[in-house]
Amino acid sequence: MPWLGVGDEVLLRGPFGTPWPVEQGFGRDVVVVAGGLGLASQRAAILHLARPGGCRRLTVLLGAKRPEGLLYAREYDAWRTAGVEIRTTVDEADAEWPGPRGLVTSLVPAVIRDPAATTILCCGPDPMMVGVAEAAIAFGVPAAEVFLSLERTMACAVAHCGLCQFGPHFVCRDGPVLRFDRIAPLMRIPQL
Ligand code: FES
Repeated sequence: MPWLGVGDEVLLRGPFGTPWPVEQGFGRDVVVVAGGLGLASQRAAILHLARPGGCRRLTVLLGAKRPEGLLYAREYDAWRTAGVEIRTTVDEADAEWPGPRGLVTSLVPAVIRDPAATTILCCGPDPMMVGVAEAAIAFGVPAAEVFLSLERTMACAVAHCGLCQFGPHFVCRDGPVLRFDRIAPLMRIPQL
């Protein structure tokens, strides 16, 4: 199809599914954990939570394969000015890289200061999200305060075609953001 021109019509549907529970984080400690491109879905939530009257303390943990894979890097200074604590880690880097190397999961324990008052918002590959959830829960964060954003192939977006089915859930309608305590057993089933 050629490029659209002035006056052409386009059809947009959505938004569909569940958002990040931003208001639930107000007054609490919120830890946003992103693996790679996962941060794209969380940027708006970060900006909302960082506003005056938002969450009590906001920490963003970012993991990427390489430093150039850290999304929105030019915005980090502004986020820090707004009071956001940012920690990054990468899998591979040259000697110039000043930060840690390894899984973003390893950054979780050090930033949980008040577990009962902490909410986790996590987006990334499934194994990474399970690792983050289990690390947070091991440090006392309630499983009901851990939220994961699932990525599944979708078509209809209205719980009709079944393409995104995840056990009893349809990720297009019931997700993509789901509470970990409701999906923990399903997350451990390969290829689900
Ligand atoms: S995309 Fe069709 S059921 Fe979810």
